[in-house]
Amino acid sequence: MAARVKLNSLLAPKPTDTDSGFPTPQPKQQEFLDSDADIAIYGGSAGSGKTLALLLDFAKPELLENPHYGGVIFRRTSPEITNEGGLWDEAGIWYPTLGATSNQKWLRWTFPTGASVRFAHLQHEKNIYNWQGAQVSRIAYDELTHFSKKMFFYLMTRMRSTHGIKPQLRATCNPDAESWLAELIDWWINPQGYPYPERSGVLRWFIVKSDEVIWADTAQDLRSRYPNSNPKSFTFISAKLTDNPALLEKDPHYLANLEAQDVVERARLLDGNWRVKKSESRLFKAEAITASAHGEWSDPVFAKSYLFGIDPNFGGDDAFSCQVWDISDIPYQLVAEYKQSNASITSSINQCSKLVDKYTPVLVAVETNGGGRTVQERLIEHFPGVRIEAVTTTKNSKIINTDRIAIALEEGLIQFPPDWDGIDELRSFSSYSREAITGHDDSVMAWAVAFAYIEEARQLALINPLLLT
Ligand SMILES: Nc1ncnc2c1ncn2[C@@H]1O[C@H](COP(=O)(O)OP(=O)(O)O)[C@@H](O)[C@H]1O
Ligand SMILES: [Mg+2]
Repeated sequence: MAARVKLNSLLAPKPTDTDSGFPTPQPKQQEFLDSDADIAIYGGSAGSGKTLALLLDFAKPELLENPHYGGVIFRRTSPEITNEGGLWDEAGIWYPTLGATSNQKWLRWTFPTGASVRFAHLQHEKNIYNWQGAQVSRIAYDELTHFSKKMFFYLMTRMRSTHGIKPQLRATCNPDAESWLAELIDWWINPQGYPYPERSGVLRWFIVKSDEVIWADTAQDLRSRYPNSNPKSFTFISAKLTDNPALLEKDPHYLANLEAQDVVERARLLDGNWRVKKSESRLFKAEAITASAHGEWSDPVFAKSYLFGIDPNFGGDDAFSCQVWDISDIPYQLVAEYKQSNASITSSINQCSKLVDKYTPVLVAVETNGGGRTVQERLIEHFPGVRIEAVTTTKNSKIINTDRIAIALEEGLIQFPPDWDGIDELRSFSSYSREAITGHDDSVMAWAVAFAYIEEARQLALINPLLLT
């Protein structure tokens, strides 16, 4: 204890020319610093404080008090270490406040006790063997997705307990659905690609057997299944930009810059999505979407024909959505939309009824999954003169109907208001999975339901004498 008290006074912030003391970790960073997992990964949005978390972690008092402690933090290439604002610069702001001195040639900081933290690159796989005999007890990878799986696992098995320091591996990463790491942390990520908040920091154990990673909730479980195995504990801690208010204070434009990214980059870097693939091809062409965003929300006009698409979803996250399309002319225009998540049957049917009353559509198409039959029946009761049709979406019909939309968009047959929130869904709609890769696709689904009946509705519009002026 005496040693700790002495060390703490040694580590107390000293005045520097930047006039800043050693930073206080933010709650998520603290969670990372407190983890006693063999391997802890701090992952999340750009700017969420990951790199600094590593620097704080490597300079924890209980490590620095040991003169034999030598930590190594890797980046894939050396410019990434020494680039302006990179690891070396950031360490240069904070480590001197702990009395550390630097050696630029070896990219090393030495603390008053003799403990040290150095930075190194690990560009090629063959470089891993240079570290074979090194007595390194603490290793970190900044931006782990830039390294190979082999680099990660090889060095992990080479870490040794030296001078009473528990060997631990730390890493940071931005979400990358295409990296090997996405698979490794899969348990911590929900089906939509976002980290489960309640799993952040939870320990699990694994062993590697014939290149395969085998997981269990406890080390005992693995030891009983694989006698003589040496399970390692592993955890993933997730953070968002909002977990780093320091950055938003320092650079208020940071958020706006991320928000200006395209929908996939935004989902990855701002929202921290682990399932959005950069390379996954989109069904709807970006230029066609932009070119179609010119319409207006508008009230009914006499002698125009309207087509409704309704995709009912009750309770839950998926929204109940009802769209009104003006199909009297080319381009077809989206003129109204009612969208409600956590919808109740009664209020949604009321809202739809109001719209039917208002627009007098030639046809209403209702998706039958998720309570749609009830919606159809109620609308038929309320509007005996209106054609109310049911659509049951299957994997194949979804392909056909979303293809229909894609073709109509490309041919310039569509217009929607530029502030329609379905535009993001369109931009991120995968041609492969036929789902919005960033989560919701309620608007696209209501549209697909409407356009399942576009030809029939057009016929009806033509023969409806009321509408022939
Ligand atoms: N606890 C903290 N106290 C003060 N500033 C912080 C803290 N955590 C992060 N920052 C600052 O926020 C900015 C972004 O942090 P950084 O670690 O580079 O984020 P990331 O690696 O996640 O992109 C940096 O300027 C860093 O100094
Ligand atoms: Mg960083």
